Amino acid sequence: MRRAKISIIGAGNVGATCAHWCAAGELGDVVLLDVPQTEDMPKGKALDLMQASPIMGFDSKVIGTNNYADTADSDVVVVTAGIARKPGMSRDDLLATNAKIVSSVSQSIKETSPNSIVIVVSNPLDAMVQRAFQVTGFEPAKVIGQAGVLDTARYRTFLAMELGVSVEDISAMLMGGHGDTMVPIASCTSVGGIPVSQLIKPERLEEIVNRTRTGGAEIVSLLKTGSAYYAPAAATMQMVEAIVRDKKRLIPCAAYCDKEYGVGGYYVGVPVILGSGGVEKIIELSLTPQEKEGFQKSVDAVKSLVASMTKLLETA
Ligand code: NAI
Ligand code: 2OP
Repeated sequence: MRRAKISIIGAGNVGATCAHWCAAGELGDVVLLDVPQTEDMPKGKALDLMQASPIMGFDSKVIGTNNYADTADSDVVVVTAGIARKPGMSRDDLLATNAKIVSSVSQSIKETSPNSIVIVVSNPLDAMVQRAFQVTGFEPAKVIGQAGVLDTARYRTFLAMELGVSVEDISAMLMGGHGDTMVPIASCTSVGGIPVSQLIKPERLEEIVNRTRTGGAEIVSLLKTGSAYYAPAAATMQMVEAIVRDKKRLIPCAAYCDKEYGVGGYYVGVPVILGSGGVEKIIELSLTPQEKEGFQKSVDAVKSLVASMTKLLETA
């Protein structure tokens, strides 16, 4: 049986760490690609990772390259190409630069891996995944954004820290865009099956939600040289695994919503079933009036981000 072929575009912090998790988990063979200006850097990272395989006991092959021919006929392509945030920058500050990068990367994916499923990670996520969908012309179920798995993992981490319990016992769901407008869904947050509202007072829960919303900025302010990558790469690996192992995971992803939630043709974070067909189903939850209002604000923020991107690309 042919192993899955996973290509990762952008061999920086998130890309290389994602290659690490995917290879160590034997999800398939991994191709790590970066721009020609980086010369042999992706080859160096790939060889280093391969040399970890006898110690860690994995048989996945990892190659590094500057050439899309090496990524041909990938099953999954992960897009981490672009610039990352520095202190004081918002994700939206990355819009102009990354929109151009994601446009050219998406064109290359379309030409070399026309049957792949694309997972976009580059920021600002909700606009970049829309751009990848526009340029590849792939069906909506096959272009997906990573944000919700990371945001939910941050929320679960903070809840576990607050309660002094295992992260494994915490289930949570966040919807909306990646960033300040993400919406926690209270009815889907529980600890060992107990609704979180029975364990944490509303004011404290709001503080934890706010820390989650700004979780990316908190890491940027600590690192000072870039943004988070261990948890983002692990989150992306979970999506790759759901696809290559057809796991039918029910997780939050940025998915193309048209009639769903009345979004009207934009990518936004919603619960989906993720399997070998990509987004196999979008789950429509019944939301409280407050959650509906929060979700609508988030959708409006995504729409205005996409409108700014379209304007920038037209004038470029
Ligand atoms: P990084 O700077 O470490 O790596 C980015 C890599 O992309 C660099 O090696 C660069 O040479 C490469 N690159 C630039 N243009 C390219 C092109 N046209 N083709 C191929 N490669 C290209 O940045 P890092 O930390 O890996 O972050 C990557 C992106 O992911 C950023 O936009 C960041 O904001 C985003 N991000 C998104 C998250 C999410 O949850 N959606 C979480 C963490 C980061
Ligand atoms: C994060 O949330 C930068 O989007 C990235 O860490």
